Amino acid sequence: MKKQRNIMVQFTLITFITVLVVSFGLGEFLARRVRENLINTHIDLLPRIVQYAVEDHPDFYVFMQSYPELGPSTDVEDFFYDLLTFGSITRLKVMAKDGTIVWSDESAIVGKNFSDNTLFRRAVGGEIVYSYRFSRKEENIAGTNKSIILEIYTPVYKGNELVGVLELYESDSQLYVNIQKNRRTVWLLVTAAGAAIYISLFLIFYKIYQFQKQTSKRLLQTQDVTIFALAYQAELRDIVTGRHLERTSMYVKILAEELSRDEKYRSYLTKDYINDLVKSAPLHDIGKVGVPDFILRKPGKWTVEEFEEIKKHSQLGHKIMTKVEERLTFQSFLKIAIQIILSHHERWNGTGYPAGLSGEDIPLSARIMALADVYDALRTERPYKEIIFHEKCREIIISERGRHFDPRMVDAFLSRETDFNFISRKFMDDHTASSLSDVGSTAFS
Ligand SMILES: [Fe+2]
Repeated sequence: MKKQRNIMVQFTLITFITVLVVSFGLGEFLARRVRENLINTHIDLLPRIVQYAVEDHPDFYVFMQSYPELGPSTDVEDFFYDLLTFGSITRLKVMAKDGTIVWSDESAIVGKNFSDNTLFRRAVGGEIVYSYRFSRKEENIAGTNKSIILEIYTPVYKGNELVGVLELYESDSQLYVNIQKNRRTVWLLVTAAGAAIYISLFLIFYKIYQFQKQTSKRLLQTQDVTIFALAYQAELRDIVTGRHLERTSMYVKILAEELSRDEKYRSYLTKDYINDLVKSAPLHDIGKVGVPDFILRKPGKWTVEEFEEIKKHSQLGHKIMTKVEERLTFQSFLKIAIQIILSHHERWNGTGYPAGLSGEDIPLSARIMALADVYDALRTERPYKEIIFHEKCREIIISERGRHFDPRMVDAFLSRETDFNFISRKFMDDHTASSLSDVGSTAFS
């Protein structure tokens, strides 16, 4: 469930960042295109108008060809000033082919040479060249209206012959307003589209996530009941059935949680591991399905030979579960189940079965199961034995510290013995309870 929540958070973040980055990139790209298009309408128009105007003034060509011998006539100067009143043109430079400024409204620069200017060089090659920028603070004369500054270098011709270059300096506040307005519209649309895409993706994913969560939950429940059914069919074959599987699972959980507080086991006994351990516990005696009924259901004590048959349930169960586990293509909790099934009758001092393992060679899961299983067997009434009360069980378990049981396991049991006693009473088998009622409830402790 935690992993699923993480996937949800990861998806939400990744999608949000992706949509944000794409929206920002798209917004900026479209805003630039809009700006370029608006500027291009000016670039297309102004040079054409200038060329038409020049063609109507033959004196302009005379002036361009006779400079510097002759200055501009009054008529030519009027023509230049007329150009300055056109649209938003605020400055004009008239340059000869060699880059010399032959006329400008800024008289101080007349006669200077701009042949090194890159834009001029391209214009004198026949290209209409421009650059633009937003007005600087000092250029914002009105103090309120910002504008866009366009510098257009346009070649002028007489017929096919290039006679010079005009540099038009345009300061257009309306163009600035239009660009900003269009830019805002573009950003608004892109933001709305980005938000709509993000919300749509989120809703689709959330729906899938909910469906998948529901499916996973059902699969897990199915898995749990299948395990329980498997374990219960072995249990059912026993002479007395009860709530052994439920109680042992609870004891296992208590012991594992207690041990997980220990520095030594903390990294091993994670929450997921404990869940798998608890899920595996009911399978510990599944091998009993292979033990003959006349032995398993015998009301009295087993003979040595019969007990040898009983002991085989560990290996039989191991064989069953290994076959099942081999069919899986991923690492599952059955690995833990297999450990428990095979080794839950091993003893700390090496006198257990089937392998006679000792100490920490016995898997931790099996050491936990061993104590849980024995405690429950002691606390439960059987045809061949009476119920043993908690205090006596406690004594037996302590006496087996370092013999049957891992000493640390006994310590964990003692730390949580109240919980063990509580569970043994709360989930008592019906037949045990009825026997006790004959004795009297005060005798039970
Ligand atoms: Fe067993």
